[in-house]
Amino acid sequence: MSEKIKFVQRENLKEKPDPSDLGFGKYFTDYMLSFDYDIDQGWHDLQIVPYGPIEISPAAQVLHYGQAVFEGLKAYKHEGEVDLFRPSENFKRINHSLARLDMPEIDEALLLEGLKQLVDVERDWVPEGEGQSLYIRPFVFATEGILGVRPSYSYKLLILLSPSGSYYGGASLQPTKIYVEDEYVRAVRGGVGHAKVAGNYAASLLAQTNAADQGYDQVLWLDGVEQKYVEEVGSMNIFFVENGKLVTPELNGSILPGITRKTIIELAKKLGYEVEERRVSIDELIEAHNSGALTEVFGTGTAAVISPVGKLKYEDTEIVINNNETGEITQKLYENYIGIQSGKLDDPEGWRVVVPRY
Ligand code: COI
Repeated sequence: MSEKIKFVQRENLKEKPDPSDLGFGKYFTDYMLSFDYDIDQGWHDLQIVPYGPIEISPAAQVLHYGQAVFEGLKAYKHEGEVDLFRPSENFKRINHSLARLDMPEIDEALLLEGLKQLVDVERDWVPEGEGQSLYIRPFVFATEGILGVRPSYSYKLLILLSPSGSYYGGASLQPTKIYVEDEYVRAVRGGVGHAKVAGNYAASLLAQTNAADQGYDQVLWLDGVEQKYVEEVGSMNIFFVENGKLVTPELNGSILPGITRKTIIELAKKLGYEVEERRVSIDELIEAHNSGALTEVFGTGTAAVISPVGKLKYEDTEIVINNNETGEITQKLYENYIGIQSGKLDDPEGWRVVVPRY
């Protein structure tokens, strides 16, 4: 039995939101996990504290130089039990991101234990409706108040819990419209595109706004050198079905190694599909569409789950994929993936991790 971590109780519990109006990331539970770092003590004071505002120095380095990384994962409830989905993958990746920003790594097992205890306290907040889950947002940021450009000597980790529904607002598996960005780039090799750092998302916003102004839901990024090869959507990795085969851009150093991406590749292979991880040019996709070889496109991400793409706009061309309908392979992968996550299907790989009652 693991030791219980410190728990600071709040006076009044919040009212829970209407389950039919969850949206994504709008509501937060009563408590959060908190962990502090300083140069003398290392990581210390792991505790569950009331969710609420925190005090931060106006000179905190994160506010000036952006030393911040985050993660996203989910918890599901079924038959009275709450499970986390592949949480160790997220904690492995948070350390990868921390290392890239020269921030101190964290004991992954301790973090997982802290998360389990937090979710145990908040198990009543895990929604059970179709397509709903408890979205979990761990993040770490630099707190030292000093304006010199060097790594901070102090940091804070927080984990927030947010009961959520579908990321795009509509029903699950509603095809999205994607704008292929040909002006701005998201990342270059040697940069931070492979890490989940806050700045990657800040850098994507202008293109996202421009795309939204033209009626598109998301931006598909091309590589930062030739602007020729497809990389990722920013909130999702991307997959194409070409001649019945799944094709996805290979992890080349500027693409985020998505955990849903990894799971879908593993799942697709088990279901008997061929999967290719390789460079995919935008020209190849347009040609494959014109010849009829490109039959489905979908994105994968923790928040977005599996999201079919119905339209892709590149320069002056808009291609419509599978009649703007969810394709057969996308549907099958979605059902299998969500079935395992939500506990409706068996989990032979042990991806679900039970949250014990402490
Ligand atoms: C996630 O899928 O968890 C993400 O991090 C994407 C987005 C909400 C930032």
